Amino acid sequence: MVTSADILVVDDKPDNLRLLSSILTNEGFKVRKVLNGQLAIDAARIHPPDLILLDIMMPQPDGYQVCQDLKANPCTADIPIIFLSALDTVADKVKAFTAGGVDFISKPFQQEEVLARVKTHLQIRQLTKALQEQNQRLQAEIQQRRQVEAELSQALHELQATQEQIIVKEKLASLGALTAGIAHELRNPLNFVMNYAESSVELAAEALDELTAATSPLAESAPAPAIELPYSEPERLATLQEILSDLRDNATAIHQHGQRAERIIRMMMQHTRTEPCERKPTNLNELVAEALDLTYHSKRAQDSDFNVTIQTDYDPAVGMISVSASDLGRALINLIENAYYALQEKYHQSPVGFTPTLLIQTRRHPETVEIRIRDNGIGIPPEIQTKIFDPFFTTKAADGTGLGLSITYDVIVGQHQGTLKVTSQPQVFTEFLIGLPA
Ligand SMILES: Nc1ncnc2c1ncn2[C@@H]1O[C@H](COP(=O)(O)OP(=O)(O)OP(=O)(O)O)[C@@H](O)[C@H]1O
Ligand SMILES: [Mg+2]
Repeated sequence: MVTSADILVVDDKPDNLRLLSSILTNEGFKVRKVLNGQLAIDAARIHPPDLILLDIMMPQPDGYQVCQDLKANPCTADIPIIFLSALDTVADKVKAFTAGGVDFISKPFQQEEVLARVKTHLQIRQLTKALQEQNQRLQAEIQQRRQVEAELSQALHELQATQEQIIVKEKLASLGALTAGIAHELRNPLNFVMNYAESSVELAAEALDELTAATSPLAESAPAPAIELPYSEPERLATLQEILSDLRDNATAIHQHGQRAERIIRMMMQHTRTEPCERKPTNLNELVAEALDLTYHSKRAQDSDFNVTIQTDYDPAVGMISVSASDLGRALINLIENAYYALQEKYHQSPVGFTPTLLIQTRRHPETVEIRIRDNGIGIPPEIQTKIFDPFFTTKAADGTGLGLSITYDVIVGQHQGTLKVTSQPQVFTEFLIGLPA
């Protein structure tokens, strides 16, 4: 291999050229002879040799200039150049190496020395080339493996997404038609119960007011009662008062339970809704802000002592996203209501030094949009973290249906092909992270 190499010999003295050529040809090398610098540059560019033997002292361009020119061109930069010169001070040699030469042979030269140096540099070049090639092969292999890995991970992702969707569908199927039927059947009679119960509460309260007025010490100075009372004895009036008071309590209970049942049915119907959700471009930050507003005011209306520090951090880059606004809004409300509940619970347990805080954050990523809902409430014990998305799972004895998160999961993962993740540390925080395809 080394001995069949192509060597370019450059010298402006024909005698030198002939001598060098014969030494190298005798060793089996292929030799090209060139008489000046410019021809050397052209010859090397047209057909790059494996090595160049280059005289320094030549008319313009001289050996240094030829060398610099070849090193500046990527096609010829790698060719090893050995300088040949009668100049042999240290300064000359340094100049030759600085110009890019790999070696320096002083004239007059010894045949053995020339051959030894030429062979050494051809060998180094050959090994370097082999190393470079191997390196390139390895790089290509690494690249290929990376690609295979990326494809595998993509396939895994798709499989997981499909599995998640199958689970959602199975869940829907298991609740199924029966739930839808029951919900429909129950809704009408329940409406009656609610209406009657509501008016019973009002009537009982009215009657009770009348009786209270009639039996209170101030009754004499008060205007005559509006109804004729059939009772004359105070004890009988007192008994009646007790009965009416019980009636009012009963009716209140009917009303409360009715409301709860109605809520269960409403949520079950959301669960089994069969019509496809209609998506429209929606300003996501506005949707989140609306859900926050709505929940906060309804909470304040129920309980005027309710107080939570709300931190919002909306990323303006989130922009418009194609979603079913009513369903996603419902999902957000469920998550925020859960957070409020967790904050209130913790506040009731230990109010001292505790600032109930809710953080709502939106973020735009290249492929997804993220909504973070974080509270510093009671947290979720690890052993129930896997159950919270199950329908009817609740820790809120009388207050919860346990359908909130199950619906939320269906809306985000099932309808919108998004992700819903929870992280929590008991007594420290709970964080729900929604990811939606952008
Ligand atoms: N932010 C939170 N902090 C602590 N626990 C939570 C939080 N969110 C959910 N949980 C737990 O998950 C359970 C299930 O929540 P989900 O919203 O499905 O039902 P629920 O809130 O109990 O009932 P509903 O939504 O009908 O009011 C809750 O009972 C509670 O134990
Ligand atoms: Mg809930």
